[in-house]
Amino acid sequence: MSLAIVYSRASSGITAPLVTVEVHLSNGMAGLNMVGLPEAAVKESKDRVRSALMNANFEFPARRITINLAPADLPKEGGRFDLPIALGILAASRQIPQQALADYEFIGELALSGELRPIRGVLPVALGAYQSGRRLIVPYLNAQEATLAKQATVLSARHLLDVCAHLKGEQTLSACLPDALNKENGSSLSADLADVKGQQHAKRALEIAAAGRHSLLFIGPPGTGKTMLASRLPGILPEISDEEALQVAAVASVSSDGFNPRHWKRIPFRSPHHSSSSVALVGGGRPPRPGEISLAHHGILFLDELPEFSRHVLECLREPLESGCITISRAAYQAVFPAQFQFIAAMNPCPCGYAGDSTEHCQCTKEQIRRYMGRVSGPLLDRIDMQVEVAKLPAAVLAGSENYASDNSLAVRARVSGARALQFKRQGKCNATLTVPELDYHSALQEEAKHLLHQVMTKFMLSARVYHRIIKVARTAADLEGSVSITVQHISEALRYRCLDRMKIII
Ligand SMILES: Nc1ncnc2c1ncn2[C@@H]1O[C@H](COP(=O)(O)OP(=O)(O)OP(=O)(O)O)[C@@H](O)[C@H]1O
Ligand SMILES: [Mg+2]
Ligand SMILES: [Zn+2]
Repeated sequence: MSLAIVYSRASSGITAPLVTVEVHLSNGMAGLNMVGLPEAAVKESKDRVRSALMNANFEFPARRITINLAPADLPKEGGRFDLPIALGILAASRQIPQQALADYEFIGELALSGELRPIRGVLPVALGAYQSGRRLIVPYLNAQEATLAKQATVLSARHLLDVCAHLKGEQTLSACLPDALNKENGSSLSADLADVKGQQHAKRALEIAAAGRHSLLFIGPPGTGKTMLASRLPGILPEISDEEALQVAAVASVSSDGFNPRHWKRIPFRSPHHSSSSVALVGGGRPPRPGEISLAHHGILFLDELPEFSRHVLECLREPLESGCITISRAAYQAVFPAQFQFIAAMNPCPCGYAGDSTEHCQCTKEQIRRYMGRVSGPLLDRIDMQVEVAKLPAAVLAGSENYASDNSLAVRARVSGARALQFKRQGKCNATLTVPELDYHSALQEEAKHLLHQVMTKFMLSARVYHRIIKVARTAADLEGSVSITVQHISEALRYRCLDRMKIII
């Protein structure tokens, strides 16, 4: 029969849906016709496949060739189908045995010489192949990434001829084993928290944010260490699990930069510039690629100089902050990317930077300050658990060599990990992601704590949303102490991390 079926995979979000490549040879005018919604790149693949087959000394059938990439409604892009198409033509024209194909999935772009070129997003392909119980053959340069899907059986080849020899039983492609590189952990590489002098209030806030995965905003004059503090957050977070690391790698794998295996298990820390577009931030394009918020999945998204970001860009963050994912719809495409990131931001209190500073004089008018704050106020600010003031340091502290052992990143990480373990044991998730009923169930306030919170809520006219955020942060402060109940101290500490709410009354 002159019909061959070869399995391969497309790319959608961070998944790789199965594609069946059907090749049929029939009598009629010689030519090659491709159906099944192929993009321009797939059409180009016709020419590459023809040259690759001829250069590898195969015969290009002088018949009418029909290639169907099914399902038809799945958008397909890139040269990834070159290899399965070439094998389909060879099997349909009996140059390689057909029965050998059924146990495998194939992916890879062909050079005109028949050499195999790597593709983007091979990790999701390997995960998909494993789930369907088939072995996967990939280009040599994709092998290391594909083996991150540990249980998958991955074989790699440098040339079309090697794949054919394997299928004919003339030679065996060896299975790729996970490389030693995969075990390297990058999270210990970040700078130490002990480098930041003074700023005990801000360091403590960072520790709480790390422990409960709370969103946090640093506010203060220029040069007080806000950027320094934020960049030390990855170093105090607990290690991510293998499952989480796999998702992080899968997002990077389908992004335009690709995944660097040396970054395996490194906690993502993304700090896009304030001139970034909304597409760069939340993802998009044709085909859709993940944006910064997805590259920060299971890690941190840090927006420095928050008010400098365009309003539209900040608006785009609201949905993913709530749902933990982003759906991108573009004509034929719809892709969902995960985006469970911890949100950290930094800003000055006013355009000149010195409002509220004890030594420098602020030159801004009240109206200017109000407008500046207005850029970040409202719905986004409402979603930030902690607003933390980072005041200017006395010169003596900055010049001094005081350094508390309890401040170094390793010590803080141990405390953070302890508090995280408590949260997972109690409720299976971090405090920041508790729903209101869960929060009510797990966070009983002592009478005195309740009384204080109600007093402050009335005085500052705070919303119900803020009320729950304060309790969440207090819950984490209690967990860091190993305390079951939330005391008045925990509530009053959480209230100290609401500096903008206090400022609103002043301006
Ligand atoms: N607390 C501190 N301990 C040690 N060095 C500090 C501290 N604060 C500031 N510095 C020094 O000042 C430099 C600037 O700090 P950083 O960039 O973190 O300030 P910032 O608060 O982000 O300022 P801006 O508002 O201008 O962005 C740092 O590179 C560091 O050398
Ligand atoms: Mg800064
Ligand atoms: Zn000012």
